[in-house]
Amino acid sequence: MALIHGKKLIIVFLLILETSTYQAMSRTLLEDSIAGRYQQWMAKYGRNYEDDAEKEKRFKIFKDNVEYIDKVNNEGNRTYKLSVNEFADLTTEEFIATRTGYKISSQPSSPKTSFRYENLTEIPMTMDWREKGAVTPIKNQEQCGCCWAFSAVAAVEGVTQIKNGNKISLSEQQLVDCVEGSNGCNGGLMDYAFEYIIQNQGLASEENYPYQAMDGTCDQQMASNIVAQISSYEDVPSNNEEALLQAVANHPVSVAIEGSSPDFKSYSSGVFTGECGTNLDHAVTVIGYGMSDDGTKYWLIKNSWGTTWGESGYMRIQRDTGAPEGVCGIAKKPSYPVA
Ligand SMILES: *[C@@H]1O[C@H](CO)[C@@H](O)[C@H](O)[C@H]1NC(C)=O
Ligand SMILES: *[C@@H]1O[C@H](CO)[C@@H](O)[C@H](O)[C@H]1NC(C)=O
Repeated sequence: MALIHGKKLIIVFLLILETSTYQAMSRTLLEDSIAGRYQQWMAKYGRNYEDDAEKEKRFKIFKDNVEYIDKVNNEGNRTYKLSVNEFADLTTEEFIATRTGYKISSQPSSPKTSFRYENLTEIPMTMDWREKGAVTPIKNQEQCGCCWAFSAVAAVEGVTQIKNGNKISLSEQQLVDCVEGSNGCNGGLMDYAFEYIIQNQGLASEENYPYQAMDGTCDQQMASNIVAQISSYEDVPSNNEEALLQAVANHPVSVAIEGSSPDFKSYSSGVFTGECGTNLDHAVTVIGYGMSDDGTKYWLIKNSWGTTWGESGYMRIQRDTGAPEGVCGIAKKPSYPVA
């Protein structure tokens, strides 16, 4: 009896021991796993930090970002998911400085343009300009705040293909180097890009004036090798998603957006419903619209952050919420070129 009793005690003791070791172990595993995820992430995105201090500093930022992303995904009550993408070691300030670049300059804004679709009533239920062949593959602005050039180019590529059937990848670098009134990698506006393309009587191809992800001087010879032209551009009436719909039913449209919130930065899939404000700091291109299975209406946007962000480089963002500015301010400053 005494022996059996003793055995039981030992078993109970072992169980207690095991539970507490397990708890201690799972804590280390958790820390290990963030450190492990950091190592894996560094390998995946080819990160090499100059020294251990920098690596430690970046690890702290990474850890904060990962904890936030895990928290949002675990709450499980949003219509979208976040993921640990290549921006996970950047602070919000660094992210805004290098990956966005929509800037309203102090120059007087251009005169109000007409809006040719104001009386358009026949609007398809859904639209995806990729399916019509009017959208080139996702590009990557890298560490240059020239989203405005990518947004403008995607719109020009769209109207060009719709007009003459030629899908040609066009040059962002030409806009970064040549558009006066914009500041290249330090930000700019799509309308200035459209004005330049009209003045220059066209835009060169990506192939002939390739992207460098840095400021350069305007190469007049490459800039004169034009493959696409526009005749004018128009602004969509502000804060009017119905007007935006009229325009997108006809072709891709450039829009400004607040693209720097933690959720926008780490968006990976689903219909994005915010968190975000409406302080415009980024530019993308609306390339369609539709409705998800649960009835949520969305805009389809093409971003310039490579294919590892979002739904292979694209985002579905909620539309028609009743807020005039639209989610993340998407309806505040849309405009488009006319081929
Ligand atoms: C999701 O759940 C969290 C935690 O329960 C809560 O704080 C948050 O407000 C919820 N968000 C939404 C969009 O319902
Ligand atoms: C839209 O209709 C109004 C009223 O008929 C007309 O005055 C206006 O010029 C039309 N707009 C366009 C762009 O055709």
